[in-house]
Amino acid sequence: MSVFEADRVNEKHKGIVTRDGIRIHETVDYQGMQAAGRVAAEILDEIAEHVFPGQSTAEIDRIIEEKVIAKGTKSATIGYKGYQHASCISINHVVCHGIPSAKTLKDGDILNIDVTVILDGWYGDTSRMYVAGKLPRKAERLIQVTHDALMLGIEAVKPGNTFGDIGYAIQSYVESHRMSVVRDFCGHGLGRVFHAPPNVLHYGRPGTGPVLEEGMFFTIEPMVNLGRPETKVLADEWTAVTRDKSLSAQFEHSVGVTADGVDIFTLSPAGTFHPTYTQTAE
Ligand code: MF3
Ligand code: CO
Ligand code: CO
Repeated sequence: MSVFEADRVNEKHKGIVTRDGIRIHETVDYQGMQAAGRVAAEILDEIAEHVFPGQSTAEIDRIIEEKVIAKGTKSATIGYKGYQHASCISINHVVCHGIPSAKTLKDGDILNIDVTVILDGWYGDTSRMYVAGKLPRKAERLIQVTHDALMLGIEAVKPGNTFGDIGYAIQSYVESHRMSVVRDFCGHGLGRVFHAPPNVLHYGRPGTGPVLEEGMFFTIEPMVNLGRPETKVLADEWTAVTRDKSLSAQFEHSVGVTADGVDIFTLSPAGTFHPTYTQTAE
Protein backbone atom coordinates (compact mmCIF):
# COMPACT_ATOMS: atom_id res chain seq x y z
CA MET A 1 0.00 0.00 0.00
CA SER A 2 1.01 3.62 -0.31
CA VAL A 3 2.52 5.18 2.76
CA PHE A 4 -0.01 6.94 5.03
CA GLU A 5 -3.15 5.60 3.39
CA ALA A 6 -4.79 3.20 5.87
CA ASP A 7 -8.45 2.46 5.20
CA ARG A 8 -10.98 4.02 7.55
CA VAL A 9 -11.45 1.55 10.38
CA ASN A 10 -15.00 0.16 10.17
CA GLU A 11 -17.52 -0.45 12.95
CA LYS A 12 -16.85 -4.18 13.09
CA HIS A 13 -13.21 -3.41 13.78
CA LYS A 14 -13.83 -1.46 16.98
CA GLY A 15 -12.06 -2.81 20.03
CA ILE A 16 -8.80 -2.53 21.91
CA VAL A 17 -6.35 -0.41 19.96
CA THR A 18 -3.01 1.04 21.01
CA ARG A 19 -2.39 4.80 20.97
CA ASP A 20 -0.82 4.24 17.52
CA GLY A 21 -4.18 2.89 16.35
CA ILE A 22 -2.96 -0.71 16.16
CA ARG A 23 -5.58 -3.30 17.04
CA ILE A 24 -4.72 -5.95 19.63
CA HIS A 25 -6.46 -9.15 18.51
CA GLU A 26 -7.65 -12.04 20.63
CA THR A 27 -6.39 -15.61 20.75
CA VAL A 28 -9.32 -16.95 18.72
CA ASP A 29 -8.64 -14.40 15.95
CA TYR A 30 -5.37 -16.15 15.03
CA GLN A 31 -7.40 -19.09 13.72
CA GLY A 32 -9.34 -16.81 11.38
CA MET A 33 -6.11 -15.32 10.04
CA GLN A 34 -4.49 -18.74 9.64
CA ALA A 35 -7.45 -20.00 7.62
CA ALA A 36 -7.54 -16.94 5.35
CA GLY A 37 -3.76 -16.88 4.98
CA ARG A 38 -3.65 -20.56 4.09
CA VAL A 39 -6.06 -20.09 1.18
CA ALA A 40 -4.10 -17.15 -0.22
CA ALA A 41 -0.85 -19.14 0.04
CA GLU A 42 -2.45 -22.21 -1.58
CA ILE A 43 -3.48 -20.10 -4.54
CA LEU A 44 0.12 -18.89 -4.91
CA ASP A 45 1.30 -22.53 -4.77
CA GLU A 46 -1.17 -23.59 -7.44
CA ILE A 47 -0.57 -20.68 -9.81
CA ALA A 48 3.12 -21.55 -10.40
CA GLU A 49 2.32 -24.03 -13.19
CA HIS A 50 0.40 -21.33 -15.06
CA VAL A 51 3.41 -19.00 -15.35
CA PHE A 52 5.34 -19.54 -18.60
CA PRO A 53 6.47 -17.59 -21.68
CA GLY A 54 3.50 -16.70 -23.91
CA GLN A 55 1.01 -16.71 -21.03
CA SER A 56 -0.94 -13.47 -20.47
CA THR A 57 -1.23 -11.92 -17.03
CA ALA A 58 -5.00 -11.58 -17.61
CA GLU A 59 -5.23 -15.37 -17.93
CA ILE A 60 -3.21 -15.84 -14.71
CA ASP A 61 -5.59 -13.42 -12.99
CA ARG A 62 -8.63 -15.24 -14.40
CA ILE A 63 -7.36 -18.54 -12.97
CA ILE A 64 -6.71 -16.85 -9.61
CA GLU A 65 -10.24 -15.45 -9.52
CA GLU A 66 -11.62 -18.91 -10.30
CA LYS A 67 -9.60 -20.39 -7.43
CA VAL A 68 -10.65 -17.64 -5.01
CA ILE A 69 -14.28 -18.55 -5.69
CA ALA A 70 -13.72 -22.33 -5.72
CA LYS A 71 -12.15 -22.15 -2.26
CA GLY A 72 -15.17 -20.34 -0.84
CA THR A 73 -13.33 -17.06 -0.35
CA LYS A 74 -13.81 -13.55 -1.70
CA SER A 75 -11.25 -11.39 -3.48
CA ALA A 76 -10.27 -8.38 -1.37
CA THR A 77 -8.93 -6.48 -4.37
CA ILE A 78 -11.92 -6.64 -6.73
CA GLY A 79 -13.78 -3.40 -6.05
CA TYR A 80 -11.07 -2.07 -3.74
CA LYS A 81 -10.72 1.64 -4.54
CA GLY A 82 -11.98 0.84 -8.05
CA TYR A 83 -9.44 -1.95 -8.69
CA GLN A 84 -11.03 -4.68 -10.83
CA HIS A 85 -8.79 -7.75 -10.57
CA ALA A 86 -8.20 -10.67 -8.19
CA SER A 87 -4.43 -10.11 -8.20
CA CYS A 88 -1.69 -7.60 -8.86
CA ILE A 89 0.94 -8.90 -11.29
CA SER A 90 4.12 -6.84 -11.42
CA ILE A 91 6.65 -7.70 -14.13
CA ASN A 92 10.38 -6.78 -14.13
CA HIS A 93 10.69 -3.03 -13.37
CA VAL A 94 7.11 -2.86 -12.08
CA VAL A 95 7.45 -2.44 -8.30
CA CYS A 96 3.86 -3.27 -7.30
CA HIS A 97 0.18 -2.94 -8.26
CA GLY A 98 0.73 -4.14 -11.83
CA ILE A 99 -2.64 -4.59 -13.55
CA PRO A 100 -3.30 -7.95 -15.25
CA SER A 101 -3.66 -7.49 -19.02
CA ALA A 102 -3.50 -9.22 -22.40
CA LYS A 103 0.26 -8.62 -22.42
CA THR A 104 2.12 -11.95 -22.56
CA LEU A 105 5.17 -13.05 -20.58
CA LYS A 106 8.55 -13.35 -22.28
CA ASP A 107 11.34 -15.82 -21.48
CA GLY A 108 13.29 -14.49 -18.50
CA ASP A 109 10.57 -12.14 -17.20
CA ILE A 110 10.30 -12.08 -13.41
CA LEU A 111 6.97 -11.28 -11.83
CA ASN A 112 5.37 -10.77 -8.46
CA ILE A 113 1.87 -12.17 -7.98
CA ASP A 114 -0.01 -10.64 -5.04
CA VAL A 115 -3.29 -12.15 -3.84
CA THR A 116 -5.57 -11.10 -0.99
CA VAL A 117 -8.61 -13.16 0.00
CA ILE A 118 -11.30 -12.70 2.61
CA LEU A 119 -12.49 -15.74 4.59
CA ASP A 120 -15.11 -15.34 7.33
CA GLY A 121 -14.22 -11.65 7.37
CA TRP A 122 -10.46 -12.19 7.83
CA TYR A 123 -7.92 -10.99 5.26
CA GLY A 124 -5.04 -13.11 3.95
CA ASP A 125 -2.52 -11.06 1.94
CA THR A 126 0.60 -12.59 0.37
CA SER A 127 2.83 -12.33 -2.67
CA ARG A 128 5.78 -14.17 -4.23
CA MET A 129 8.11 -14.00 -7.19
CA TYR A 130 7.83 -16.23 -10.27
CA VAL A 131 9.77 -16.50 -13.50
CA ALA A 132 8.64 -17.21 -17.05
CA GLY A 133 11.12 -19.65 -18.54
CA LYS A 134 14.76 -19.29 -17.65
CA LEU A 135 15.75 -17.13 -14.69
CA PRO A 136 18.44 -14.52 -15.49
CA ARG A 137 21.39 -14.52 -13.05
CA LYS A 138 20.93 -10.93 -11.87
CA ALA A 139 17.24 -11.50 -11.25
CA GLU A 140 18.03 -14.62 -9.23
CA ARG A 141 20.26 -12.59 -6.89
CA LEU A 142 17.60 -9.89 -6.53
CA ILE A 143 14.89 -12.43 -5.74
CA GLN A 144 17.07 -14.26 -3.22
CA VAL A 145 18.04 -11.06 -1.40
CA THR A 146 14.42 -9.86 -1.33
CA HIS A 147 13.16 -13.13 0.13
CA ASP A 148 15.98 -13.27 2.70
CA ALA A 149 15.20 -9.67 3.65
CA LEU A 150 11.53 -10.52 4.27
CA MET A 151 12.48 -13.48 6.46
CA LEU A 152 15.02 -11.40 8.42
CA GLY A 153 12.28 -8.81 8.99
CA ILE A 154 9.99 -11.57 10.26
CA GLU A 155 12.74 -12.83 12.60
CA ALA A 156 12.68 -9.40 14.27
CA VAL A 157 8.98 -9.85 15.15
CA LYS A 158 8.49 -10.53 18.88
CA PRO A 159 6.93 -8.64 21.80
CA GLY A 160 9.19 -5.85 23.01
CA ASN A 161 10.89 -5.28 19.67
CA THR A 162 9.75 -2.30 17.58
CA PHE A 163 8.61 -1.74 14.01
CA GLY A 164 11.90 0.11 13.50
CA ASP A 165 13.73 -3.13 14.31
CA ILE A 166 11.87 -4.85 11.45
CA GLY A 167 12.70 -2.04 9.02
CA TYR A 168 16.32 -1.98 10.11
CA ALA A 169 16.74 -5.74 9.66
CA ILE A 170 15.42 -5.46 6.09
CA GLN A 171 17.20 -2.27 5.05
CA SER A 172 20.62 -3.15 6.44
CA TYR A 173 20.58 -6.57 4.74
CA VAL A 174 19.41 -5.22 1.36
CA GLU A 175 21.90 -2.35 1.33
CA SER A 176 24.77 -4.68 2.32
CA HIS A 177 24.06 -6.34 -1.05
CA ARG A 178 24.16 -2.95 -2.82
CA MET A 179 20.45 -3.06 -3.62
CA SER A 180 17.82 -0.55 -2.47
CA VAL A 181 14.61 -0.65 -0.44
CA VAL A 182 11.53 1.10 -1.87
CA ARG A 183 10.26 3.86 0.48
CA ASP A 184 7.06 4.82 -1.32
CA PHE A 185 5.12 1.67 -0.38
CA CYS A 186 4.93 -0.19 2.89
CA GLY A 187 3.35 -3.09 4.73
CA HIS A 188 0.25 -2.53 6.81
CA GLY A 189 -1.86 -3.69 9.69
CA LEU A 190 -4.67 -6.06 8.65
CA GLY A 191 -7.23 -8.39 10.20
CA ARG A 192 -10.91 -7.76 9.57
CA VAL A 193 -9.78 -4.86 7.36
CA PHE A 194 -7.38 -4.82 4.42
CA HIS A 195 -5.20 -1.84 5.33
CA ALA A 196 -5.03 -0.61 8.93
CA PRO A 197 -2.39 1.14 11.02
CA PRO A 198 0.53 0.96 11.30
CA ASN A 199 2.50 1.66 8.15
CA VAL A 200 5.10 -1.11 8.26
CA LEU A 201 8.18 0.55 6.80
CA HIS A 202 10.86 -1.64 5.26
CA TYR A 203 13.64 0.68 6.45
CA GLY A 204 14.34 2.26 9.81
CA ARG A 205 16.44 2.48 12.92
CA PRO A 206 16.57 -0.03 15.77
CA GLY A 207 14.37 0.79 18.75
CA THR A 208 12.22 3.33 16.90
CA GLY A 209 8.51 3.18 16.09
CA PRO A 210 5.68 1.46 17.95
CA VAL A 211 6.52 -1.45 20.25
CA LEU A 212 5.32 -4.87 19.03
CA GLU A 213 2.70 -6.49 21.22
CA GLU A 214 1.04 -9.90 21.17
CA GLY A 215 -2.19 -9.62 19.16
CA MET A 216 -0.91 -7.30 16.44
CA PHE A 217 -1.51 -8.54 12.86
CA PHE A 218 0.28 -6.96 9.91
CA THR A 219 2.03 -7.60 6.62
CA ILE A 220 5.71 -7.31 5.80
CA GLU A 221 6.20 -6.88 2.05
CA PRO A 222 9.58 -5.41 1.11
CA MET A 223 10.09 -4.19 -2.44
CA VAL A 224 13.77 -4.26 -3.44
CA ASN A 225 15.32 -2.63 -6.52
CA LEU A 226 18.58 -3.50 -8.26
CA GLY A 227 19.02 0.24 -8.91
CA ARG A 228 17.73 3.31 -7.14
CA PRO A 229 14.75 3.25 -4.75
CA GLU A 230 12.60 5.93 -6.43
CA THR A 231 9.30 4.94 -8.00
CA LYS A 232 6.58 6.58 -10.04
CA VAL A 233 2.96 5.64 -10.66
CA LEU A 234 1.86 5.37 -14.31
CA ALA A 235 -1.15 7.16 -15.86
CA ASP A 236 -3.40 4.16 -15.05
CA GLU A 237 -3.03 5.36 -11.43
CA TRP A 238 -2.01 1.90 -10.17
CA THR A 239 1.15 0.58 -11.80
CA ALA A 240 4.22 1.62 -9.80
CA VAL A 241 7.57 1.34 -11.62
CA THR A 242 11.19 2.06 -10.78
CA ARG A 243 12.14 5.51 -12.08
CA ASP A 244 15.48 4.20 -13.36
CA LYS A 245 13.78 1.13 -15.00
CA SER A 246 15.86 -1.23 -12.84
CA LEU A 247 14.48 -4.65 -11.88
CA SER A 248 12.34 -4.86 -8.75
CA ALA A 249 11.23 -7.80 -6.59
CA GLN A 250 8.84 -8.28 -3.66
CA PHE A 251 7.68 -10.97 -1.25
CA GLU A 252 4.84 -10.56 1.26
CA HIS A 253 3.65 -12.46 4.32
CA SER A 254 0.78 -11.73 6.71
CA VAL A 255 1.96 -12.31 10.30
CA GLY A 256 0.77 -12.09 13.90
CA VAL A 257 2.81 -11.30 17.00
CA THR A 258 2.60 -14.17 19.52
CA ALA A 259 3.60 -14.32 23.21
CA ASP A 260 7.16 -15.26 22.29
CA GLY A 261 7.58 -14.52 18.59
CA VAL A 262 5.64 -14.65 15.37
CA ASP A 263 2.98 -16.67 13.59
CA ILE A 264 3.29 -16.56 9.77
CA PHE A 265 -0.26 -16.89 8.42
CA THR A 266 0.68 -17.23 4.73
CA LEU A 267 3.35 -19.95 4.70
CA SER A 268 3.08 -22.25 1.68
CA PRO A 269 1.04 -25.37 2.54
CA ALA A 270 3.07 -27.16 -0.16
CA GLY A 271 6.29 -25.95 1.44
CA THR A 272 7.25 -24.14 -1.75
CA PHE A 273 7.03 -20.55 -0.59
CA HIS A 274 10.58 -20.06 -1.68
CA PRO A 275 11.94 -20.26 -4.17
CA THR A 276 8.79 -20.68 -6.20
CA TYR A 277 10.78 -19.98 -9.32
CA THR A 278 12.71 -23.24 -9.15
CA GLN A 279 9.49 -25.02 -10.09
CA THR A 280 9.18 -23.15 -13.34
CA ALA A 281 12.80 -22.51 -14.33
CA GLU A 282 14.64 -24.93 -16.61
N1 MF3 B 1 -2.26 -6.73 -1.89
C1 MF3 B 1 -1.72 -5.40 -1.93
C2 MF3 B 1 -1.00 -5.19 -0.62
O1 MF3 B 1 -0.12 -5.93 -0.35
C3 MF3 B 1 -2.76 -4.35 -2.15
C4 MF3 B 1 -3.35 -4.40 -3.48
S1 MF3 B 1 -4.61 -3.24 -3.58
C5 MF3 B 1 -5.09 -3.34 -5.19
O2 MF3 B 1 -1.29 -4.38 0.21
F1 MF3 B 1 -6.18 -2.68 -5.25
F2 MF3 B 1 -4.13 -2.87 -5.94
F3 MF3 B 1 -5.29 -4.61 -5.50
CO1 CO C 1 -0.23 -6.08 1.71
CO1 CO D 1 -0.50 -7.91 -1.05
